[in-house]
Amino acid sequence: MAEQRLKTSIAILGCGEVGATLAYTLLQNPICSEVILVDPKKELLEAQVRDLGDATYGGRAATKIRAGTHQEAGQSDIVVITAGAKQKPGESRLSLLNRNLIILTSIFTSMSPISPHTILLLVANPVDVLTYFARKLSGLPESQVLGTGTSLDSARLRGILAQKAQVSPSSIDAYVLGEHGDSQFVAWSNASIGSTPLHLALSDQLTDEFKTDIESHTRGAAGAIIAAKGCTAYGIGNVAASICKYILFDSRTVRPLSFFQPRFSCCLSMPAVIGRKGILRAMPTQLDGDEQKLLEDCAVGLRAIIEGAEKELKA
Ligand code: LAC
Repeated sequence: MAEQRLKTSIAILGCGEVGATLAYTLLQNPICSEVILVDPKKELLEAQVRDLGDATYGGRAATKIRAGTHQEAGQSDIVVITAGAKQKPGESRLSLLNRNLIILTSIFTSMSPISPHTILLLVANPVDVLTYFARKLSGLPESQVLGTGTSLDSARLRGILAQKAQVSPSSIDAYVLGEHGDSQFVAWSNASIGSTPLHLALSDQLTDEFKTDIESHTRGAAGAIIAAKGCTAYGIGNVAASICKYILFDSRTVRPLSFFQPRFSCCLSMPAVIGRKGILRAMPTQLDGDEQKLLEDCAVGLRAIIEGAEKELKA
């Protein structure tokens, strides 16, 4: 037990493209003692662990990788859930719900009893709805259950705005909020470059057409990548690894993540402070009237999907 406490571990459930990319990112940028990969596909699991292990023998092998069980995963500092069906070209994230909810339910049965200190990070889609159910199935406090949400969409937004403004993406403060899916929206009213509001920094470019173009680029980014290569992995792997770092280092970084919104009774992304105990607090966010309406519509849509899924679970 004492040894257990000295080790920090991140368990990754699901060792497909996303799980393996996250594992690789965590091995290359060590933040924990071990990464535990879990997947019912034994042959694939062993092969991924061996291949990833081969990447650790070169020098700085600070983090070890091994295969593990759901029971072990449930005792880890962070459990990242990537397991589930992935989008086929042209498919929406929401269409994965029934299949991935069955997988999620069986994961929690296998992990039980889960450590009361574990932080759950949902990556599988539809991430907002699965984050909601993970909170219920795990029985963990709501602050310990979060989803990657629109942090990846916001990274994509930073990337494109940085190109337009010819500045570094790290100088852009702009968020995609709401659903990690088709009802997401950009909070233009509080976007800035450095401390300069975006409408001043990009005054000559920031037309309605420009905003619509950027929003459709951000909303469609995953679909375009999936159409060409069958999945997305590096972007989400990187975002998930960064969130694990914010948690283990208690860095109190502000990011838009999916977490429970009591006001709407669903999980969706709003800016939050992330630290060792998960979501430390929501950041008050001022939206203009149109954005407020988009947020409410998004919540109503997610809530209806949750209610439909709850009825099906009971039937
Ligand atoms: C994406 C997947 C993770 O947006 O939904 O790349």
